[in-house]
Amino acid sequence: MPPANSVEVRPARNILGSLRVPGDKSISHRYAMLAALAPGRSRFENYSSGADCNSTLQCIRALGCNIERDHKGVVIIEGIGPRLHAPAAALDCGNSGSTMRMLSGIVAGQLFASELVGDESLSRRPMKRVIEPLRKMGAAIAATDDRAPLQITGTRLRGIDYVVPVASAQVKTCLLFAGLLADGQTTVEEPTRTRDHGELALRAFGAQLSRSRNAVIIVGGQTLHPLEAFVPGDSSSAAFFLCAAAIFHESNLVIEGVLLNPTRSALLDVLASMGSRTNMMRVEEHHGELVGTIALAPGVGKPVEISGAQTALLIDELPVLAAIAPYTAGIIVRDAGELRVKESDRLSAVTRNLEAMGAQVEQTADGWRIPGGQKLHGGEIESFDDHRIAMAFAIAALRAEGETVIHNAECVAISYPGFFDDLEKVVER
Ligand code: S3P
Repeated sequence: MPPANSVEVRPARNILGSLRVPGDKSISHRYAMLAALAPGRSRFENYSSGADCNSTLQCIRALGCNIERDHKGVVIIEGIGPRLHAPAAALDCGNSGSTMRMLSGIVAGQLFASELVGDESLSRRPMKRVIEPLRKMGAAIAATDDRAPLQITGTRLRGIDYVVPVASAQVKTCLLFAGLLADGQTTVEEPTRTRDHGELALRAFGAQLSRSRNAVIIVGGQTLHPLEAFVPGDSSSAAFFLCAAAIFHESNLVIEGVLLNPTRSALLDVLASMGSRTNMMRVEEHHGELVGTIALAPGVGKPVEISGAQTALLIDELPVLAAIAPYTAGIIVRDAGELRVKESDRLSAVTRNLEAMGAQVEQTADGWRIPGGQKLHGGEIESFDDHRIAMAFAIAALRAEGETVIHNAECVAISYPGFFDDLEKVVER
């Protein structure tokens, strides 16, 4: 028996079947935050079941919004408008960097002070990337060493022109939300293009934005209207199953109702470069977001190198790609230094766990070189309380020889509480 909070994963023979994954985390956060600012009743189906998106709901409840949630993933939010209510206690962002960074942009534009706190992992993560521009917009922010807890004294913000130094959709969205509440115009320019859910969500709630190359422009003071929407399945959660299917010759996997936004589907391009074929069906657009069904025909016979702009677009999928790399023709990843400041240092966590399974892997300052054609054995995996590390190695375990134990596996609930059950549904032994 593995210890409590550990999960045993046995090798699989194949991946077969179809499934749906929980609502997209990035979209759920943004819809909930904008619903708070849109006076009236917003309703979301398939809102993410993950703990992170629940942290966002708790925070906006603390800022005065009534929220109802049923067991089928429907969330109803009674939005207040641009002026929220002062919270009675600190806003607890839990493990969620998205909550803390994006909500900072909203509370910075309120005429009260708030404190944003997080768990141990979140309190280690860099917040200077939002603190600096929000101060330029007029907010007063106190934070020791530029880390949480953040004490934010909100104000009437002024619009700025800002070039974001790191590729981060969280920072871009934070500043667009702050820009919505600010006087004048805010321009946010990013070094390379990142996921655009912030822009699409703002438009879905009725705001107007414009784009010029890598810059997004918003004029402050626009009024939002409430929204009824279906949240597409999370493409970063689907990634675990797609990577699992890719490494079994006879697999046949279909994922329904999944997000196909081009800024989130770079994994499909990488899998195609490796030799898998993906077929997209029943593609529809919901409030600017593409959603559809993906069928994957496996193949990983060609080596791949991932760098630059592609690395930024794949940031959440890199742990699972690295975890399957030994079973492919090899993967080299560059320009992924940001992985060191995620929920864990994902470059080190992946390296440590691949080695525990007997893999040869070279960790560089900002990536890995992982030779292909390797045979791994089951091992003792440490999740480092990082949901994507736990799920990535559940996938690696499927092609290993012998059983793998994933310690501290409960953290999958951060984005995907039913992950291990869903995995069993498509695994053949
Ligand atoms: C997210 C952006 C990415 C990603 C995170 C979600 C978002 O973070 O890793 O899981 O919803 O905007 P960064 O903005 O730090 O790159």
